[in-house]
Amino acid sequence: MKISLATSTPSQLETECLAVTVIDTGDKTPAPGVLSSDPAVVAAAADLIASGEVTGKIFETVLLHKPSGLKAKRLLFVGGGKAKNFSAYELRKMGGTAVRFLKPKGIRSFAFIAPENWGGKADQSAQSTHVAERSGAAEAVRAIVEGAFVGNFEPNTYQSDRKDQTIDQLTVIAAAKDQKAAERAVEEARILGESQNFTRELVNEPGNKMTPTVLAARAREMVESLNVPELKIEIHDADFIKEKKMGAFWSVSQGSDEPPALIVMTYTPAGAPEKPVLGLVGKGITFDSGGISIKPSDGMEKMKYDMAGGAAMIGAMRAIALLKPKVKVIGIVCASENMPSGKAQKPGDVQIAMSGKSIEIINTDAEGRLVLADGLYYARQLGCTHLIDAATLTGACVVALGYVNAGVFANDDKMYERFSRALDKAGEKMWRLPLDEEYKEVIRSNIADIFNSGGRWGGAVTAAMFLKEFAEDTPWLHLDIAGTAWMEENKPWIAKGPSGIGVRSLVEFAKDFASDGSRS
Ligand code: BES
Ligand code: MN
Ligand code: ZN
Repeated sequence: MKISLATSTPSQLETECLAVTVIDTGDKTPAPGVLSSDPAVVAAAADLIASGEVTGKIFETVLLHKPSGLKAKRLLFVGGGKAKNFSAYELRKMGGTAVRFLKPKGIRSFAFIAPENWGGKADQSAQSTHVAERSGAAEAVRAIVEGAFVGNFEPNTYQSDRKDQTIDQLTVIAAAKDQKAAERAVEEARILGESQNFTRELVNEPGNKMTPTVLAARAREMVESLNVPELKIEIHDADFIKEKKMGAFWSVSQGSDEPPALIVMTYTPAGAPEKPVLGLVGKGITFDSGGISIKPSDGMEKMKYDMAGGAAMIGAMRAIALLKPKVKVIGIVCASENMPSGKAQKPGDVQIAMSGKSIEIINTDAEGRLVLADGLYYARQLGCTHLIDAATLTGACVVALGYVNAGVFANDDKMYERFSRALDKAGEKMWRLPLDEEYKEVIRSNIADIFNSGGRWGGAVTAAMFLKEFAEDTPWLHLDIAGTAWMEENKPWIAKGPSGIGVRSLVEFAKDFASDGSRS
């Protein structure tokens, strides 16, 4: 999708469709207001508002043909919801909603009016106490473009009758005082949007097309085609994993005919200090059958998205290499299948992780934490001083938080605070869950150092406690994206399917981390 900026008066722009946000400024009775000061646009809205057809309700879409006084062929009103709640979080979704509303109508290009007076409100329900920092014209542009990319993605690669209806060209109309800032916002939003969609493409692939070998090849292809000298990739095979004594990782891979891959992407910007080094470690299970502790067949097809954490790291590394924050970042993806076979590990087996810790396997379906245990330890060996892992780790996290929030765990409050700011900027929702020492009891084994499963209760927490054993005292965050990596339904602003959760927050975190001298 091509993006351009325009400073023209909206009513004077020739376009297939002009989109404008409508918010509800009323308290009890609706009082819709158009977020544009162009009198012709306001006038065109007046009758529809008077008739009650345009209310500003969130995700409402009303299309007017041949609007009088406008050069645009159509005028689209997109509802932004209550004015007091309206922030970049909603505006991003308005961008996606406009794209998803227009593309099936055969429209390939349109223009979106960036709101002029808006923003500054945080989501009241959010755990974070940060007031949304995003307001002003450049930030409006950023939100609209990010959202438009999200809305333009369709997971229909394998439908032979697909129509490939996408928006090819978006013009954002912004009367920005600082035109340079607005241009930078477009560029950054494009990089984030394209990287997030790259992640979504990877996650969307079925298990037969997306093996560990293919995931590694796709990562290599990305790095090579990017052609950014600061970004390098190494791909390690089963022999390397065994040589390095990654016994936890290998225990998952040993039962599969498909070989595993350890993908290591290194971003070393010129002039960046030796330390800190941020490590991004992703779970890349390209299919999770459960292994010998096999899953019920109902819903098992969804376990192709068990590599979403790894794919998020690959997408994040792409964006980081293009945005060039001044901090070293290493992205690691532990890619494997989890399959039952005569060679597969069995409940009761004891595995020795790379760190030397022994693990008694209680359930072969708790495989994500096994590959991550060695991934986290290896990241520390490579010199990472701060770690973030992302994984579709537990069904228990979905039970706890549903499909709205991902779970976030931290052994370091400062790092959590910093990440929480990145979440606000990125417009991604995650909720912090605890890591009290008391939870450790349930993973203490009498045969080995730890069990790989703490059973049903508090399953998301005990899985995180297991990972904490391998992060040790390195500041670390764990993102459990089991409930948020796959959209269960179509939404006005995003298609059912892979969401690309994590990419934007990880990149915002890396940018902030690079620019702040006060980090620990
Ligand atoms: N990949 C699954 C978790 C998952 C569940 C992801 C639902 C996405 C949606 C993970 O490997 C798993 O099987 N976890 C088990 C752990 C249990 C055996 C301790 C689970 O959550 O049931
Ligand atoms: Mn599993
Ligand atoms: Zn899994």
